[in-house]
Amino acid sequence: MTVPPPASAPATPARPSPVPAARFARISGWGSYAPRAVLTNADLERMVDTNDDWIVTRTGIRERRVAAAHETTASMAAVAGARAIAVAGLEPDEIDLILVATLTPDYWMPSTAALVKEAIGNRRAAAMDVAAACSGFVYAYATAHAYVTSGMARHVLVVGAELLTRFLDYTDRSTCILFGDGAGAVVVSASDEPTGPHGIELTTEPQGAYMIWLPAGGSKSPSSAETVARGEHFIRMEGKETYRFATRTLASSALAAIERAGLHPDEIDLVIPHQANVRIIEAVAKGLGFPMDRIFVNVDRFGNTSAASVPLALAEAVDTGRIKLGDRIVFVAFGAGFTSGAVAMEWSADPASGARAAAIDPDAIRVRLPVDWDSVDPIPAQLADVLASPGPVDVPLDDVVPGEPARSHKEVPA
Ligand code: UT7
Repeated sequence: MTVPPPASAPATPARPSPVPAARFARISGWGSYAPRAVLTNADLERMVDTNDDWIVTRTGIRERRVAAAHETTASMAAVAGARAIAVAGLEPDEIDLILVATLTPDYWMPSTAALVKEAIGNRRAAAMDVAAACSGFVYAYATAHAYVTSGMARHVLVVGAELLTRFLDYTDRSTCILFGDGAGAVVVSASDEPTGPHGIELTTEPQGAYMIWLPAGGSKSPSSAETVARGEHFIRMEGKETYRFATRTLASSALAAIERAGLHPDEIDLVIPHQANVRIIEAVAKGLGFPMDRIFVNVDRFGNTSAASVPLALAEAVDTGRIKLGDRIVFVAFGAGFTSGAVAMEWSADPASGARAAAIDPDAIRVRLPVDWDSVDPIPAQLADVLASPGPVDVPLDDVVPGEPARSHKEVPA
């Protein structure tokens, strides 16, 4: 006997029919979100013993974005994700799997992906987070590609999102100047048509485990008044070792992915590297033998946004005409772990579809809060003080990224 569902049961969306395996996968949508508030090097000069010249010369960073108190990793991920779904011409319910790459989740549980699923109005996708630090987006993209080509999913939303400014020690000048907040996303969709050359390379070097890490809050060292007093809830980094790893791995990972795609480096139109430091990016260019005009750079305006950096840069590269239909591109990242990963592919989506992202209003997308929510102000005190009283914003800057127009800033449209 079949038991009828209770009258109050929510309508269950129709499950898709089984899909045949071994199909092709392509990026069908892309999107990004950057919070409005800008933190300049001049602002940081008011917080720690640093200066604009040091930061620009050593890192290429001019400014980074800071999430507002009401924003979280999930809220930024949901906006970027909704934009990518709109660009793909899909409805949120057509997404079968949501992957969020992040090292700054809203909570330990549930996953940030589960929060994103609800916020974008998807009722039927599986959802999970991917933890591979700054390489997270590349790892999540590789997972999405495998799901689609194996026939387990038709459309996968892949998001890289980070809210790093809440995990920084604003007395540590070696880390707090580097990182910023933001999110980027793509939709990976099944295609019956062959999608051109494609290669993926992923690696992890475990001896790098404690080169970038956040000591407390996990099962090894649960959060306590003592761990907080020791500042173990902040990101720590061995900058020089990390720099060496990055310059060692990025070009070789990119070359491995290019080779797996059956391509020659000369056939690559644009490389989108993890935006950690312009000197590291220049080293990748040198390692690949590429001029800088074949490398995409926006680290000067966003700083290092970890797992968000590649999809944020990818969306900007497509929307500004740097990537055209049929271009061969590579995205490549490295990060804590030490992880690294690269993807070489032929771009097969119409860049004009990017205009559809304008239909998504960031203020209309909300991540639901728990009923008994009584949060403390999430923004670190030193940062809140500086943001509350903006200093002079006319930072005299070298042209870190050749050819880029000078711009004035503070609050900019999301
Ligand atoms: O997604 C992966 C994330 N991590 C990275 O990408 C980090 C990779 N590493 C780097 O990008 C670089 O190592 C840094 C930018 C972090 C540092 O640059 P560096 O050229 O390796 O500088 P350093 O650590 O050797 O420091 C040189 C000097 C030191 O002073 P002394 O000892 O020579 O007197 C530092 O104390 O610069 C000092 N310093 C600063 N000075 C002004 C360190 N941070 C600052 C600062 N402002 N913010």
